Amino acid sequence: MEMKQFYITTAIDYANGAPHLGHAYEKVLTDVVARYRRMMGDRVHFLTGLDEHGQKIQQTADRAGRSAQELVDDVAPQFKNLCKRLEISNDDFIRTTEERHKAVVSRILQDLYDKGEIYQDTYEGYYSVRQEQFVTEKEQVNGEWPELFGEVIEISETNYFFKLSKYQDWLIEYLEANPEFIFPRFRQKQVVEFLKNPINDLCITRPVERLSWGIPMPFDPGYVTYVWFDALINYISAVGFGEDSFNQTWPADYHVIGKDILVPSHSVYWPIMLKASGIELPKHLLVHGFWMQSGAKMSKSTGEAVDPLDMIDQFGADAFRYFVTREMNVGQDSEFSVQLFLSRYTSDLGNDLGNLVSRLLNMGSRYCGGLIPEATLHEDPEAELKAHWESTVKEVLELYEGFQFHTGLDKTFGFIRGINRYAEIRAPWKLAKSEEPADRETLKTSLATMAEGLRLAVILLKPVMPGISDKILGLLDEKPADRWNPSTLVWDDRLQGNTLGEKVILFPRPN
Ligand code: MSP
Repeated sequence: MEMKQFYITTAIDYANGAPHLGHAYEKVLTDVVARYRRMMGDRVHFLTGLDEHGQKIQQTADRAGRSAQELVDDVAPQFKNLCKRLEISNDDFIRTTEERHKAVVSRILQDLYDKGEIYQDTYEGYYSVRQEQFVTEKEQVNGEWPELFGEVIEISETNYFFKLSKYQDWLIEYLEANPEFIFPRFRQKQVVEFLKNPINDLCITRPVERLSWGIPMPFDPGYVTYVWFDALINYISAVGFGEDSFNQTWPADYHVIGKDILVPSHSVYWPIMLKASGIELPKHLLVHGFWMQSGAKMSKSTGEAVDPLDMIDQFGADAFRYFVTREMNVGQDSEFSVQLFLSRYTSDLGNDLGNLVSRLLNMGSRYCGGLIPEATLHEDPEAELKAHWESTVKEVLELYEGFQFHTGLDKTFGFIRGINRYAEIRAPWKLAKSEEPADRETLKTSLATMAEGLRLAVILLKPVMPGISDKILGLLDEKPADRWNPSTLVWDDRLQGNTLGEKVILFPRPN
């Protein structure tokens, strides 16, 4: 038997419009975890995709005077292209209109129906068109429907219902027994709070007269499946539910989602759908916060609107990935602004990392014939930098393991600044003016030490900035870092004699 894969997913995005910052961020976050796990030696399976059924899609298509299928076929390449532009290393991309998905949804529904977990009933009451869900007067605030619900209409409708309520006690116990099911932990508390009130059974159909854009109920062609019931199943339909290979991938290690879709869909519907179907639960949900954009619609100077995704084309995937990962404390919300982006870009990437690379390449070519020299001295400045590296790598790996990527990057850049400080102390550009043999030794040592520090730092940056990491390693005449086996992260003299690359500007100044 092959080792089970580390299986990680993103939410599947609604295919009713162009991708935005929230979509991009979630893919980057998931990709950073996926790449980190691969570097730690796991076999990773990374799934992302699109949610293509339901009323939202139908309404957008209607407004545009086209069919829902045309709409989603137009949107899908935009999302696939976003993954490419962002260097997302997903292994699969699922669309819920695909046959492989529809077949599994039908199968799960039929099975639950046969087991008596689904029943028919008539519902009379209120329905929120925007949220595509039935709502009750309890949800009114001061006698008004919350803005969030949009238009609320009264309907009487016969539908099929899934027996959620039957599993409420089981779910409460499950969460008690698995306090690490949801990361960060405070999010799990929100679910537990939610479950303190009785939950209703879930209406999982829409009559075709009202909505036809969905997966038909296998046992009643008069209905299509409610979009959430359909969408959640993507996590198992994409990895061959019902086939022998399914257990190589399922259960998912992490479903990465935003905070808005934790309760009730991912924390109540999904676990209960799986439990009722006799399928194992995912191991964890990783819940991120939201990007706020109060100032983002303003531009740098002219006042025209700026789409955060434009930053990808202007500054490159690595810079974008760095910014969102450095800025967002996973779980909290964060503010996107062009100013903040530019300041990270110029100070961290340009001044700290970019300048280190230019200095090294420059001096290497001027003073050492473009070869990385030998470090013959081990004095205080070298020992301090090496000790700084040793504490950095230990801390950063722990932080990455706990999804604290923003702090991990902070520490890594702290080390990069440490290399620059080391360069200031040794000042090889001054030593180069001296004829003394001792100064020559110090000069060679300082360039070798800077190069080694840089090599190690960019290996740590690889999950976040895969392109830049490989590029800088290439400039040091090293192969890309694909695995973090212990020896790659140890300070050594492997670079000695390597040929430095041509001078490049990695992070050009914005114009
Ligand atoms: N289609 C559903 C998910 C079904 S998963 C079985 C959906 N789609 S969505 O397009 O609205 O959102 C997709 C993901 O993007 C969600 O995880 C959501 O939290 C995330 N984001 C949407 N806006 C966001 C921000 N402004 N910031 C960060 N992430 C946000 O919900």
